[in-house]
Amino acid sequence: VKQCCVLGIESSCDETGVALVDMPAQGLPVLLAHALYSQIEMHQAYGGVVPELASRDHIRRVLPLTQQVLQDSGRTLVDVDVVAFTRGPGLAGALLVGAGVACALAAALGKPVLGVHHLEGHLLSPFLSIDPPEFPFVALLVSGGHSQLMRVDGVGSYQILGETIDDAAGEAFDKSAKLLGLDYPGGQALSKLAESGNPKAYKLPRPLLHSGDLDFSFAGLKTAVMVQTGKCAHAHGCAVADLPVAVLADLAASTQAAIVEVLVKKSLTALKQTGLKRLVVAGGVGANRELRQQLNAECARLKTRVHYPELHLCTDNGAMIAMAAAMRLQSGQQSAVNNYAFDVKPR
Ligand code: KG4
Ligand code: ZN
Repeated sequence: VKQCCVLGIESSCDETGVALVDMPAQGLPVLLAHALYSQIEMHQAYGGVVPELASRDHIRRVLPLTQQVLQDSGRTLVDVDVVAFTRGPGLAGALLVGAGVACALAAALGKPVLGVHHLEGHLLSPFLSIDPPEFPFVALLVSGGHSQLMRVDGVGSYQILGETIDDAAGEAFDKSAKLLGLDYPGGQALSKLAESGNPKAYKLPRPLLHSGDLDFSFAGLKTAVMVQTGKCAHAHGCAVADLPVAVLADLAASTQAAIVEVLVKKSLTALKQTGLKRLVVAGGVGANRELRQQLNAECARLKTRVHYPELHLCTDNGAMIAMAAAMRLQSGQQSAVNNYAFDVKPR
């Protein structure tokens, strides 16, 4: 394996991310620069991501972001050896923008391309932190679209131990947040609101907590939050939006407590079942402060190391895509190709 420079492009949902990574022959790849544009504000008016608008905005942002990354890293396009892009899962039209741009750039430069699995990007993003993990480890991958526990023995060696049977953890945060009148995607806002609330104020279900397996279910929790919010509004004789902030904060804290308890409990079970002494958390929900505090405390008690991505690299970004591509290439798991007949895998 030769040292090489990897350009990564992420466009699976509502963030356009571009990054440049330097992959040495040995040792961890190094992030040279990355740039991100979030479309969240544009989608907020609709209460969720509008796929067609997302695709159009990726087209507007991707080349300026690429230029910015090259400038910030002091490189030029001819320094790029491999172009990587998110192949899926995600919104088809949005993915096609990244794939199209990646293949066009690579074809013009006469360089190979590499399609990356979005979740592998999240999974390997903690390797970009100042305290990178070592294999093997248990991974808790919790994003807006996925919730999984995995056993990870090396690059490309992933075994799913359990996953959600309905909503993802991020989805549970976002849907509950919407019920409390918070803007999309409400995960972060809900956790902010929860800071001043009492997590024991309302009794909400902990789905599958004692199921014995490592699967999750969050759809029922969302229904319980809806019922509880309705009861509060009824008791106060007002609409949910007009509830006192203290009540909304209690609802937020109780919701967060339910989600976090399930995630923590199942992570500990996975560690116990595998006998591994290392936990890696990745995906947007990995930014949640309460989740981090509880996992830190439990893992300290069990003398288990826990690793997270840098806070700003928890949600979607280009750095994780460039990193995953570089780690794949370095480990010989996947080679880049000169065939630009790109395809994407939305599901
Ligand atoms: O990984 P990500 O950017 O997108 C997917 O690949 O799905 O994750 C986004 C999800 C959203 O559901 C968002 O609400 C959630 O991560 N999220 C959080 C926090 N920050 C982002 N959830 C709880 N607490 C946070 N601080
Ligand atoms: Zn993601």
